[in-house]
Amino acid sequence: MNERPKNIVVCIDVGTTKTCTIIAELKTLSKNGGVDSKAYIEENNKESQRILENKINILGVGQVPSFGLKKGLVVNIDKTISSIKSSLLEAQKTAQIDAIKNDFKTYISIAGPHIHCFNHRLSMALKGVEVSSKDVEKLLDMANFIEMPADRKIIQVVPQEYFVDEVAEIRNPVGMNGKILEVDLHVVTGSINAISNLTKCVERSQIKVDEIVLQPMASSEAVLREEDKEAGVLLVDIGGGTTDVALWSNGVLLQSEIVAIGGNHFSNDLSVALNTSLIEAEKIKINYGHVITERVNSKAHISIQGLNGTRPREVPLTYVSEILSSRAMELLSIIKKLLFANKKKMEGISGVVLTGGGAKIRGLAILAEAIIGVPTKVGYPPYVLNNQGLQYPEYSTGLGLVIWAQRKYEEDFSQFEINKQSFIYRINESLRNAFKELF
Ligand SMILES: Nc1ncnc2c1ncn2[C@@H]1O[C@H](COP(=O)(O)OP(=O)(O)OP(=O)(O)O)[C@@H](O)[C@H]1O
Ligand SMILES: [Mg+2]
Repeated sequence: MNERPKNIVVCIDVGTTKTCTIIAELKTLSKNGGVDSKAYIEENNKESQRILENKINILGVGQVPSFGLKKGLVVNIDKTISSIKSSLLEAQKTAQIDAIKNDFKTYISIAGPHIHCFNHRLSMALKGVEVSSKDVEKLLDMANFIEMPADRKIIQVVPQEYFVDEVAEIRNPVGMNGKILEVDLHVVTGSINAISNLTKCVERSQIKVDEIVLQPMASSEAVLREEDKEAGVLLVDIGGGTTDVALWSNGVLLQSEIVAIGGNHFSNDLSVALNTSLIEAEKIKINYGHVITERVNSKAHISIQGLNGTRPREVPLTYVSEILSSRAMELLSIIKKLLFANKKKMEGISGVVLTGGGAKIRGLAILAEAIIGVPTKVGYPPYVLNNQGLQYPEYSTGLGLVIWAQRKYEEDFSQFEINKQSFIYRINESLRNAFKELF
């Protein structure tokens, strides 16, 4: 059997409002295909890291509306399969490549209220004097035995920091002397049924799932720089059905949360308050919406079409803004409460980056800055070769999956002794095997 081509990947972001499939060609830094780790580190530390122009070439993009998901969860298998198939076909057409026949590596994103994340410490006694890479692997392998309720499964495990004989904040313990090796992990778990419903939809579209990535982790890849993660940053991806949050500090993922409120709730509120259809409410939100009422012209009105056959009504723009503002304040206050119950954590962040389609609502960054109390901006994905319109916040997760895949591809060539991402991959591989058993 032919080996699977490694340099072309399929990334599918199955969102609540849209399904976006990206087929991309990946490149390594060095011309001969290998990457020396020194160059990799240097490159990663540069501002230019986010300019991935020479590492990612977008071959094809397919985007269609999603009808089979609610709040990030699959609620209609047939409709979800249909969206995935259509977006895949469109991406294959632009790329002029058959992704199914070529069996390209496939990455998909996951979110939804079934996701629970927690931090967990693993420890083991060392046999030798010095920590070896085998010891680290053995320690990380112990994550497979973290006790889980029967209906839940580990999706990802991200090492945060290592400890050798209680000395903390170690990124790479290999070569250090000690007796006890420990690691703090961020563990992402999900409901087995919800995960298999999603993978089932992708696999019934004739695409095998290789890796599942938590949406806020994928979006972080697209809109955060390594310096941001070091300085401490909160990523907030406001999608249609969910808001995905990731808190980074000292370069590690401290916490991730999925809040079951997204941009669609803003439109829904408008539709109810203004007695109009969802389609009309969505248009009003996009064209006239602002979440800071003081910034809206207090004399301006808009004409709203009610039920078919009824006369249009004039509504003050300030009223539209008040409705959107109260939903925005609710969402931002939930985020603040979830993440910053502990004041020390709050002091550890220097900024908030909003992304996802919902981040495009006017005034949100200013309101977030006022409520959360730290400088806030809207984050856009970086430019990549043949961008094909992916430079907007709603593509942060999709493009983030491609960047994640590119890093994995590059690491395959690198000589890093401890391969964090590979470990995440192994967990996903065992997850994939678990799915095979389920079907
Ligand atoms: N210009 C805009 N102003 C305000 N909201 C917008 C704008 N453009 C898109 N949105 C909103 O963004 C949301 C969709 O965002 P996105 O495409 O990131 O969601 P998704 O990935 O499909 O959903 P999820 O991540 O929740 O599964 C919708 O609620 C839409 O109304
Ligand atoms: Mg999304």
